[in-house]
This record gives sequence, C-alpha cells and structure tokens, in this order.
Amino acid sequence: MTISKRKPRIAIIGTGRMAKALGKSFLQVGHFVAFGSRQPETKNIFHEEVGTDSRIYGVQAAIDAGEIIIIALPHHEVANTVRKFASSLRNKVVIDITNPFDAQPNDGSSSAQVTASIIGKGATVVAAFKTNFEKTFENVNDSTGKPREVLFASDDEKVKTIIKELIYSIGFKPIDCGTLAQAVVLDHMVPLLIRLDSKELDGKHDLTFKLINK
Ligand SMILES: NC(=O)c1ccc[n+]([C@@H]2O[C@H](COP(=O)([O-])OP(=O)(O)OC[C@H]3O[C@@H](n4cnc5c(N)ncnc54)[C@H](OP(=O)(O)O)[C@@H]3O)[C@@H](O)[C@H]2O)c1
Repeated sequence: MTISKRKPRIAIIGTGRMAKALGKSFLQVGHFVAFGSRQPETKNIFHEEVGTDSRIYGVQAAIDAGEIIIIALPHHEVANTVRKFASSLRNKVVIDITNPFDAQPNDGSSSAQVTASIIGKGATVVAAFKTNFEKTFENVNDSTGKPREVLFASDDEKVKTIIKELIYSIGFKPIDCGTLAQAVVLDHMVPLLIRLDSKELDGKHDLTFKLINK
C-alpha cells in the first residue's frame, strides 16, 4: 500500500445515504471521489445530488480508481463483495463503515476483522464512521459548537495517521479506539446509539458519542 502526500483518491462502494454523505464531504475538500455501484447506468440524478465532480462507475472500476476504498454497503453484502474484489483490495487502504447488528461474529471478532480476513494477506483495514449517523454530516459540530467525534480503529499505525487527517479534513474529530480486535466494541456501540437516539431524540439520528474530560 502506497499513499502519496497529495490528497488520496477515494473510492466508495455503494451509492446510498452514507456513501453520499461521505462522498460529498470528501469532494468538498478537494479529493477525487469515485462511487462504485452495481448499476451505475441507472443513477441518473446522482451527479445532481452529490456534485458534478463525482464519478460513478461499476465496483471494479471504482476500486481501481481509488487508493482509499470505503465500504458503504449493507453488512449482509460485505463478505460476498469483498471476496469478489479481494485481489484488487489487497494493496489499498479499506475503510469498513458497515454495522453487523444481528450478524455480529459470535466468536468475539469485530466485523472489520472479518473483512480483513476475507481480503487476506496484505489487507489494510480501518473500522470508522460506524457510530456516526449520516444526518450528522449536515452539521459536523455538536450543540456546544465543537466537532463531533469519529471513532476509528486499525492495526496499522501509519494508516492511522492518514485516517486521522482524513477525518479532521471533513470537520470531525478522530478518536483512536485501538486495534481491529478492539473495534468489536464499536460494532456493539451502534445498537446502543440507535436505541439512545430513539429514546432521547425521537429517532432524529442526530446523536453522537463524545469523550469529555472537563
Ligand atoms: N445510515 C447511517 O446513518 C449509517 C451510519 C453509519 C454506518 N452505516 C453503515 O453504512 C452502511 C451503508 O448504510 P446506508 O445507510 O448508506 O445504506 P443504503 O442507503 O441502503 O445504501 C447502501 C448501498 O449499497 C449498495 N448495495 C449493494 N448491494 C446491495 C443490496 N443487496 N441491497 C441494497 N443496497 C446494496 C447500493 O448501491 P448501488 O445500488 O449503487 O449498488 C446502496 O445504495 C451500512 O452497513 C450501515 O450499517 C450507516
């Protein structure tokens, strides 16, 4: 995996809510962003929604165009898609934002570890954005005016530096939560976040976890 000092090219697999929120954010700060879709030819108003600078390709072409690949698929699609494109994902940084919910591995692994094991030797996987509702990309600051936090984890310290910069660049604050094994906690935080959001904010999807030290 080689990432140069210029803004890395980003590919996003999926064209749904999170793909659009992340894609718009990275386009706004000057990244090349390619979206990978099962049916790119049917996405007629995609550029209107996301921006004229966006590119929409098939999944293979998007992965080929990106240095950092964000998986923004329903979790039940992740294993098959990653298996199909494993050889192309091997030399890239892969950010897994997907939430397993009831498909949480029952051996204590995180879902991002499963993604890494399917990609195989040479995989560089980051778990991130799992605990950030898509709606919060519209206002990255919390009610105190401070940036909302993005919890992330990876086994690769060099890649963590790149991910931190990426997260800062779109207005959020990165919080390093450790290794991919430790990312199992992030998987479990998501149902809690949804439950709390539903209870406290009537399901407005505007809640974010925050560390407070004073
Ligand atoms: N929504 C949130 O607030 C949020 C927050 C954090 C994390 N996440 C996680 O991010 C992932 C994406 O969430 P999302 O809300 O963006 O989902 P979404 O709006 O349903 O979009 C998923 C995209 O995946 C692609 N896809 C490929 N195979 C699919 C299939 N069998 N069924 C449906 N779509 C398929 C589709 O793009 P094409 O049709 O172009 O292939 C679709 O637009 C999920 O794993 C979710 O848990 C979501």
